[in-house]
Amino acid sequence: MNEITIIKPDDWHLHFRDQDMLLETVSATARCFARAVVMPNLVPPVTTAALALSYKERILAARPEGSSFTPIMTIYLTDKTSVQDIKDAKAAGVLAAKMYPAGATTNSDSGVNSLESLYPVFEALADNDMLLLIHGEVTQKHIDIFDREKEFIDQHMVKIVDRVPNLKIVFEHITTKDAADFVLSARDGVAATITPQHLLLNRNDMLDGGMRPHNYCLPVLKRSTHQAALRAVVKSGSPKFFLGTDSAPHTKDRKESDCGCAGCYSAWSALELYTQVFDELDALDKLEGFTSFHGADFYGLPRNTESVTLIRKSWEVPGNITLPNGELIVPFFAGKEVAWKLK
Ligand code: DOR
Ligand code: ZN
Repeated sequence: MNEITIIKPDDWHLHFRDQDMLLETVSATARCFARAVVMPNLVPPVTTAALALSYKERILAARPEGSSFTPIMTIYLTDKTSVQDIKDAKAAGVLAAKMYPAGATTNSDSGVNSLESLYPVFEALADNDMLLLIHGEVTQKHIDIFDREKEFIDQHMVKIVDRVPNLKIVFEHITTKDAADFVLSARDGVAATITPQHLLLNRNDMLDGGMRPHNYCLPVLKRSTHQAALRAVVKSGSPKFFLGTDSAPHTKDRKESDCGCAGCYSAWSALELYTQVFDELDALDKLEGFTSFHGADFYGLPRNTESVTLIRKSWEVPGNITLPNGELIVPFFAGKEVAWKLK
């Protein structure tokens, strides 16, 4: 097959950042996605309905001329989030809340320290038909970084899924066979997003032959057996798994630093790279479910009606992107060949 037409995809997890950066990030995503779930880890974080609404306005203002791209807003849970905050978010059209364990990743310092005290908030999310989006890694420093996702499942995820049985939960950017198996065997109402980097790469791609800071993201890339499990699960066509790029820009100097930031800015190539993965797996018939149906169905939103076409055509991801303020970003897969291109 040299050409594939699919219903226009949505990105169920990304980071747009704010201010000047929006001109770059919003148009890169609007290029091929109809909607995107926007992560709230700004500085300071988007913790309330009012902050989400004003952030939404800034995103809408950054859309390219004529674009109908729609951001789906989220709020950031902290130890202080109240049931009233959830009700207010619902009234403002916010669909989901994101839970970062404090210190787990970029801009998560205001995240949750005590999961136990957040159960009333989880109940409120369920009562208001909102989703809980989870960054599923423990933050205990003595736990090996490669084991933090599995530990989170054992220590917390099992409990949350069990104690709030009517809550829809997205286990974000899963990276392990443990997480894939957990989601597969979990009750209805539990799903996961998977990034292009975790399907395409494993930890050798970050550490073998030199450190590659542009492949460093969190949760960190795992060993190839985990990558293989993620590839198997998308190939299976299970509706519990859907597209979430976790596209997360950081400037070149902040990535190429003695304490480099986590995140891969994949918006320029993500859809094409997912297509490449499904092609490699001889599973192009499963691409559209993953990119365009499973997420909308899980969120309870209508499927898109427009379509996009990808063609088999090799192209090279640019080495850098210049932001409106002159700073550089090195995009994910910079300087590498991609086998598919959006028509
Ligand atoms: O690699 C990541 N980057 N993982 C996250 O969880 C956050 C993100 C970011 O905001 O940069
Ligand atoms: Zn993210």
